[in-house]
Amino acid sequence: MRTITVVGARPQFVKAAVLAPVLSRSGIADSIVHTGQHYDRNMSDVFFDELEIPEPAYTLGVGSAPQGEQTGEMMCRIEPVLMREQPDCVIVYGDTNTTLAAALVAAKMSIPIAHVEAGCRSFDRTMPEEINRVVTDHLSSFLFAPTEVAAANLYAEGVRNGVHVVGDVTIDLAHATAERLPLAPAILGRWQLRRGTYAFVTIHRAGTANDVVAFERIVGALRQLGMPVVFAAHPRVRPMLDAMGAGLPGDPIMVTDPLSYVETIAAVKNARVVITDSGGLQKEAAVLAIPCVTLRDTTEWIETVRSGWNVLAGTDPEAIVSLAHRPRPETPLPYVSDGRTAERIVSVLMESRTPMQEIA
Ligand code: UD1
Repeated sequence: MRTITVVGARPQFVKAAVLAPVLSRSGIADSIVHTGQHYDRNMSDVFFDELEIPEPAYTLGVGSAPQGEQTGEMMCRIEPVLMREQPDCVIVYGDTNTTLAAALVAAKMSIPIAHVEAGCRSFDRTMPEEINRVVTDHLSSFLFAPTEVAAANLYAEGVRNGVHVVGDVTIDLAHATAERLPLAPAILGRWQLRRGTYAFVTIHRAGTANDVVAFERIVGALRQLGMPVVFAAHPRVRPMLDAMGAGLPGDPIMVTDPLSYVETIAAVKNARVVITDSGGLQKEAAVLAIPCVTLRDTTEWIETVRSGWNVLAGTDPEAIVSLAHRPRPETPLPYVSDGRTAERIVSVLMESRTPMQEIA
């Protein structure tokens, strides 16, 4: 059996890192295609090195562009790869433009698609990620839902075949990584911070990062928190932070370049609170028992909110400050991990290996 894994953005490298060794152990010949959606060293290479992800067989170098152009350019470059490789299945992850582009090309070539993280919904179609999720799910043959909530979302949309609730590879990896962390990770020394005393912040989504007024309101709130703030800055927001004088002497905000995966888990695990618009970090905070404030009005990880470990603050400065100081929840954590999500995914793929083309 031969598969093609298409990745391009940070969260996909993390997910592919979990699946790649299990695919390989099962005798599935998988080749990685990297679209180049993320291309800076600290947004891409560092993940391949640290998480020992196999080298991509194809690097497409698409880079940044507006939504339609980026997606279209990826499709143009993915199509010849799939024509040449004729895989039995294309594996895609999550909700990025890379996911959508690969799914569209594979579907038009009648190649079965396996979507890892199927069925997640924020029900906010102003987010490009929501469009990408919905379309990819409706084109996929194997829908690997992380939770029963995600499976129910698919059912409600009439997607009822090929849905498997398998768990969440990012939760498995966060657990495993956190268990191996040293008690005093090097990054705390680098920032001269003690455990449980700071807010860890990331912002990258178009909705927040392209709205200068909203971004300024958020940064204003971070300055009112009354605790040190570590801001791991996506390249998209770095120029705005620099223009606002973030990180200058006397500012409570410490600005750092994007962190590696292990550094991110260490930063979350030792924080007092996580403040973010990232989907992945909302879950990782919940896994590591750190309260989270999400800078959005919706989330696709509703169980984090229902459990009380995550709250939606939008971009309202007062809400951000007061919710960042809320007491630690005493409710159970929303996620459990048995570390076997990737094995379940691969065994579904192995069981249905004959004849794959008929499944599409
Ligand atoms: C993308 C995904 C988002 C995912 C996120 C993870 C879409 C629509 N969005 O958002 O779902 O959660 O990745 O990080 O697919 N840039 C660089 N260097 C890089 C990458 C990006 O400078 O290595 C800058 C460019 O100016 C670019 C901007 O960041 O225009 C946004 O990059 P893009 O790939 O469009 O989306 P992300 O915000 O990273």
